[in-house]
Amino acid sequence: MGEGFRVSDIRQFRWSDYDRVVEVWRQSGADVLSRAELEAKLVRDPELFLVAAAGEDIAGVVLGTYDGRRGWIFRLGVHPGHRRRGVATRLIAELEVRFRALGCPRINLLVRPDNEAGLRFWQSLGYLTYPDVLCSKPVS
Ligand SMILES: CC(C)(COP(=O)(O)OP(=O)(O)OC[C@H]1O[C@@H](n2cnc3c(N)ncnc32)[C@H](O)[C@@H]1OP(=O)(O)O)[C@@H](O)C(=O)NCCC(=O)NCCS
Repeated sequence: MGEGFRVSDIRQFRWSDYDRVVEVWRQSGADVLSRAELEAKLVRDPELFLVAAAGEDIAGVVLGTYDGRRGWIFRLGVHPGHRRRGVATRLIAELEVRFRALGCPRINLLVRPDNEAGLRFWQSLGYLTYPDVLCSKPVS
């Protein structure tokens, strides 16, 4: 991908992107969603699953969900070859526009405590940390 990366290159995920999205997630250390998991997610809010594309290339990806009260951001990743060029900032800016359009008043996300780069990135965009601890339980 060249220097001419444009905001208009942020768009909704298409299934033809899947393999390249998986590669970005792998390169970002993110858990990969299978096609079946993604199909289930995309029944709701497909417009909140965004990629940063330049032609055939996928430089970054982010998956948003809206539960009717809060927006949640998951699996943000930018390919290592495309970092520190504002790709993630542009992805989140577009996602925030889409959350606002849905009437969503607040966005939450989780960051691993040892992910310093991730924390700095979120803080650069005004996301504040909270002391809450994630609790989770399988129900199937
Ligand atoms: C975190 C991540 C998504 C940032 O993507 P990016 O496209 O490089 O981010 P941007 O270029 O938009 O960065 C915007 C600002 O965030 C901060 N930032 C981003 N990466 C940073 C880093 N490695 N160290 C310190 N600050 C960083 C800086 O303030 C940066 O502005 P600057 O480049 O003008 O200094 C990317 O590093 C990544 O994919 N990391 C692995 C996966 C991950 O941690 N995802 C987030 C999980 S919650």
